[in-house]
Amino acid sequence: GVRFYHEKVIDHYERPRNVGSFPKSDPDVGTGLVGAPACGDVMKLQIKVDDSTGKIVDVKFKTFGCGSAIASSSFMTERVRGMTLEQASQVKNTEIAKELCLPPVKLHCSMLAEDAIKSAIKDYKSKRDAKAIQIPSAEPTPAQATA
Ligand code: FES
Repeated sequence: GVRFYHEKVIDHYERPRNVGSFPKSDPDVGTGLVGAPACGDVMKLQIKVDDSTGKIVDVKFKTFGCGSAIASSSFMTERVRGMTLEQASQVKNTEIAKELCLPPVKLHCSMLAEDAIKSAIKDYKSKRDAKAIQIPSAEPTPAQATA
């Protein structure tokens, strides 16, 4: 049957923001790849983090899914840009659903975006921790310590 979408959904669907991807091997990139078992839709969301500030400086997504899932991921990329990881991990699907006026049957589409950002943050953190173990921060030399 014909479905009616809110204009904000249509806008993000017609002109999705930040479509694309970063190389997964980039140490500053966190990748979240999640799927919705109910419908089989898949969303990939990637964040690029500035190591020194801990802030998300860039975001990209690719979504194989319905219009609401595409709109939700597009909205999410705009929402979390410039945020700290802590702030970004607190963006709830209910906020997206409300902003895009998603009907109850489409709530899981926005949930995909929440899952994706959380998973991207987790991936970035685990990469960063692995890096920290490999490259221990240099001890100050005696000359530096007394300078
Ligand atoms: Fe499943 Fe939208 S219908 S993500």
